Amino acid sequence: MATTVDLVELASGYWQSFALGAAVELGFFPILATGPVKSGELAESVGASEEHVEALVNSLCGLGLLRRSDAGYELDPEQKALLDPASPENMLGAFRFNLDLAKLWLKLPECVRSGEPVIPENPHLGKDPDKTRRFVEGMHSRAGLMARGLVPMLTPKAGSRVLDVGGGPGTFSLKLAERDDSLEITVLDLPPIVEAAKEIHAGNPAAERIRFMGGDYHQAEFPEEQDMILYCGALHQEPESRIEVLLGKMKEALKPGGELVLVDLMLDSDRCTPAYSALFQLNMMLMRPASRVYSSERLSELLRIVGFGTIETIEVPGTPYRMVKASA
Ligand SMILES: C[S@@+](CC[C@H](N)C(=O)[O-])C[C@H]1O[C@@H](n2cnc3c(N)ncnc32)[C@H](O)[C@@H]1O
Repeated sequence: MATTVDLVELASGYWQSFALGAAVELGFFPILATGPVKSGELAESVGASEEHVEALVNSLCGLGLLRRSDAGYELDPEQKALLDPASPENMLGAFRFNLDLAKLWLKLPECVRSGEPVIPENPHLGKDPDKTRRFVEGMHSRAGLMARGLVPMLTPKAGSRVLDVGGGPGTFSLKLAERDDSLEITVLDLPPIVEAAKEIHAGNPAAERIRFMGGDYHQAEFPEEQDMILYCGALHQEPESRIEVLLGKMKEALKPGGELVLVDLMLDSDRCTPAYSALFQLNMMLMRPASRVYSSERLSELLRIVGFGTIETIEVPGTPYRMVKASA
């Protein structure tokens, strides 16, 4: 049972998210990353009220994102990797996308009452070019951070064929291609996402070694004889009836002994914990009917049903994600 203090903190938890979101939206972080800045200078640079900017940066100091000295405000060194736009691991794209999602969360009662998503179709999957680009950038920054724990867990042999299904910006594939230039990697995603991914990676030599394939993974023919198939952060988009078919299709595309790697937020068998995964189910319901956060147990059962052999579930270090590895 939550104590009173926990409950009060929980009820106002969105204050923190919105303070961070406002600072991202107003463009504070590129300026704060350049060194100590007085609140007046910051207000002038972003075209905002000095008094209000000061209140916002003070809150961010209180939250441990910034620090203040006589010279002004700057990023806390602990947070610099995630908040400095010049850092390859920065999460600003993900935080911006999070702000888009926050607007949907306000409609959660409506979603629960009607049993329907609160937006007609996923506008960020191609319909709206700005939202699509923000989504792909958001995925890339989220995956960049996850990659630290995740990519060392992927060990395809030299010369392997790797298929990244629903690969989005192809962040994990890109890290694999950087590590080993002998891999034959295909990233499959919807055509508008693939286009945005190619734009984001333009000029990156590792990305040029990857084949970006535009298509619907339910319809598209998968390249054959794969050594490894990745399906990361996409499982939750699909109801059981479709996931079973898709897992079967992945098994067919793998060589005997090839490896399927599923990564996603997953639940325990009680479907209540971890709480972050249970809340993620709500996040998905706001946007996509029939989305499903799977329990690791149910996923293993489905893999067995479609004929996979050894199945192993592992936590991805430093993230709330789990990895299920299954051999074909
Ligand atoms: C949350 S993202 C994960 C991206 C990437 N695997 C990662 O972990 O960073 C899910 C991806 O699945 C893609 N997707 C959704 N439905 C799809 C479909 N029917 N065919 C191909 N890709 C699809 C989305 O476009 C999106 O890029």
